[in-house]
Amino acid sequence: MKESAEILSKTFGLIKQLIRPGVKTSEIDAEAEKFIRIHGAVPSFKGYQNYPASLCISVNEQVVHGIPSQYKLKEGDIVSVDGGVFYEGYHSDMAYTFVIGSIPPITQKLISTTKEALYLAIEKIKEGVRLGDIGYIIQQHVERNGFSVVRDLVGHGIGKTLHEAPQVPNYGTRGKGVILKEGMTLAVEPMVNMGKRHVYIAKDGWTVVTTDGLPSAHFEHTVVVRKNEAEILTSYKYIEN
Ligand code: MF3
Ligand code: CO
Repeated sequence: MKESAEILSKTFGLIKQLIRPGVKTSEIDAEAEKFIRIHGAVPSFKGYQNYPASLCISVNEQVVHGIPSQYKLKEGDIVSVDGGVFYEGYHSDMAYTFVIGSIPPITQKLISTTKEALYLAIEKIKEGVRLGDIGYIIQQHVERNGFSVVRDLVGHGIGKTLHEAPQVPNYGTRGKGVILKEGMTLAVEPMVNMGKRHVYIAKDGWTVVTTDGLPSAHFEHTVVVRKNEAEILTSYKYIEN
């Protein structure tokens, strides 16, 4: 899974280079797929429940599961890219919300709050902690900053299949839920809306969109539960450095 996650993390380095005004989201998808296959891996999402692409690319009020298309990115867009890699029998899954050009401060705050919520959750993960504690931390951080947590979709266990038990909600009650054990591998993935938490699925059958039309951000890492901490397998180092 570490090797799978490394290929995926490097794919995001490529994606970052491709993201600019005028690029079609389908072009980003095609390049990412090529990169993944050159590394001897397979895009986890392609064909998953008949999903037609390798990445999910969700712009502005699109929350997740946006299908790459002829849409051209433009200045002021925020772009959530979600990718999965299957390598030698194991999946990894990660997401990052990119910015094109300049965006309003409140949108920047939405993105930083979502990323902070992910890392606050990961910092808390270790053997013995309950998933209600993790969801609580994410929800607290998001709501304290005036935003809302999407509840219709959740994080998940991951390994030989893309989605495994347990579900990892981004909201919760302290002291409740599954107790984490050393060696569990999880995809933690807060989806945060600027306005109300409610979403619907677009006519394409996939794209999850905010009901109020306000923007949404998404960050995700694949992690392993250890005795005293979480080990993060995916990395943003190829995006941010
Ligand atoms: N990456 C999503 C997740 O985090 C799954 C995408 S669904 C797919 O669970 F159909 F696009 F694969
Ligand atoms: Co996921």
